[in-house]
Amino acid sequence: MAIIAQITDPHLRDDGADPFHDPAQALCRAFAQIAAMDRKPEAIVLTGDIIDRSAKGYGHVLPLLSAAPVPLLPMPGNQDDATAFRAAFAGWVDFQPDHLSFTRQIDDVCLIALESTRPDGGAGIDARQLDWLAQVLATTTGPAMLALHHPPFPTAAPHLDRAGFQNADALAALIAHSPVRRIIAGHSHRAIQTVWAGRLASTAPAIGHGLSLSLTGGEPHKPVCAMPAFDLHVVDDRSVTSHLIPLD
Ligand SMILES: [Fe+2]
Repeated sequence: MAIIAQITDPHLRDDGADPFHDPAQALCRAFAQIAAMDRKPEAIVLTGDIIDRSAKGYGHVLPLLSAAPVPLLPMPGNQDDATAFRAAFAGWVDFQPDHLSFTRQIDDVCLIALESTRPDGGAGIDARQLDWLAQVLATTTGPAMLALHHPPFPTAAPHLDRAGFQNADALAALIAHSPVRRIIAGHSHRAIQTVWAGRLASTAPAIGHGLSLSLTGGEPHKPVCAMPAFDLHVVDDRSVTSHLIPLD
């Protein structure tokens, strides 16, 4: 059995001007909750938007993230700077040379962290990433979990779905006949679940601010006050069970 905590979208700023709550403090509270668990997760996967676009580099976040009570696996989001991200976290995970994807074996579970921010800032993956993922899946014998920053699945929220996800259909086809048991993402700053490519797929709430929901796309899509939270995914021989842990 493996337990993987998922923390996402802290949007850590370096100017202290967070609009609703202090995400650095929320991150510390998440770490404290994880440290106090009677069965600690084997790892934390941080599914992107580690910094806010306004921040200059990762100097202000490295001491915070280094205090994680279990190994922390950083993934980039659309707010992150790819070049600075690679330099900051080169010793934390083994990034692919031409994209910021990586794998990590966690007990008998293969965590596949797939970069999903395109060079133009949009969501999706290209042919190189599809080829890499196909090779990883072909050699994965145990259960796998696929983590991305952007949800590759429709969310029923037009503001999120409008931009689309490049090569989502090709990704779904790869997953459909693979050992991937579960798909997790961030980016939405909301708890969303659906079934996609025959798997339970979800986005976790943010450690940073929330984002408003309009089911018609007619209302502004804007940052809102929301309770920070994280997900805990329990993978055993037969199932993947997920818990939402709010940080009140
Ligand atoms: Fe975000």
